[in-house]
Amino acid sequence: MSFRLQPQPVARPNRCQLFGPGSNVKLFEKMAASAADVINLDLEDSVAPSDKEAARANVIEAIGAVEWGKKTLSVRINGLDTPYWYREVVDLLENASDRLDQIMIPKVGNAADIYAVDALVSAIESAKGRQKRINFEVIIESAAGIAHVEEIAAASPRLVAMSLGAADFAASMGMQTTGIGGTQENYYMLHDGARHYSDPWHWAQTAIVAACRTHGVLPVDGPFGDFSDDEGYRAQARRSATLGMVGKWAIHPKQIALANEVFTPSEAAVAEAQEILAAMEDAKRSGAGATVYKGRLVDIASIKQAEVIVKQAQMIAQG
Ligand code: COA
Ligand code: MG
Repeated sequence: MSFRLQPQPVARPNRCQLFGPGSNVKLFEKMAASAADVINLDLEDSVAPSDKEAARANVIEAIGAVEWGKKTLSVRINGLDTPYWYREVVDLLENASDRLDQIMIPKVGNAADIYAVDALVSAIESAKGRQKRINFEVIIESAAGIAHVEEIAAASPRLVAMSLGAADFAASMGMQTTGIGGTQENYYMLHDGARHYSDPWHWAQTAIVAACRTHGVLPVDGPFGDFSDDEGYRAQARRSATLGMVGKWAIHPKQIALANEVFTPSEAAVAEAQEILAAMEDAKRSGAGATVYKGRLVDIASIKQAEVIVKQAQMIAQG
């Protein structure tokens, strides 16, 4: 480890972030009753321009009126390139109840985008004497966002989570696809005439995980558009979990159970991690730094790997 230690992200379950349009009030109670850890009420791209004002009022009302339980409650505002965002921040901070936990800032391109929202939020919190500090989450979904991902991750102590938004990201990068996440038909290697599919989202995901882990921010996988394809969602989510992401969005309620399944360490994985920790305890007692577990090397680094799984499972159980 470097002299500067890796900061820990907030210890809370973030396996599934369920989205719903702020214009569709019928969904709010259903979202609150769901098994998602995080609720994202949307004012951005699922709300038509003619509905923006009504959606803002609906969301502010629902923050206080709906019983959200222990969920993290977040509102996605519009991007800083729109005329909507400042009024959304002002109204949310002036009028929404203290139940609001987070604001999600979409399409961030650099640290200054977060600075701008932070300055506005900080001034209103102070003017209104708000007791609870609002956290931020951001979406990396542009070429600029991924190019500046590390300065974005470091931009504000309010920042707790960062998602990859596959659709806008693909558009901004000029990728030839209309798919939202998952396998892309033309992204393959040929070997002996057979196609081997590769993962075009991999680089962006890994860059996000590295920036997030460096600065104590939760890395999250964004939407998977084809909600009729459970196995496709599972495969995408498993790759994300393997890379270090802690959760994934649901854009339809049927995706919630899939996210919870993949991002909750399995009993078998936890049992194996505990066996590795026990094997290392035995090794330590006999003065060894390395030992053999099921025919493979385990050493002091294995303790840290096993602890990631055990701690994640404990945190979710306490959730
Ligand atoms: N949260 C909670 N419940 C939801 C829901 C959501 N996001 N989306 C749908 N439901 C409910 C429906 O109301 C319906 O409930 P019912 O059985 O009580 O009638 C049930 O789940 C099945 O819904 P279904 O008919 O399959 O979907 P739909 O056609 O009503 O809606 C979408 C499909 C995609 C338009 C809708 O799921 C949606 O708006 N998703 C969120 C989009 C979003 O927020 N995008 C921004 C982030 S990318
Ligand atoms: Mg987007």
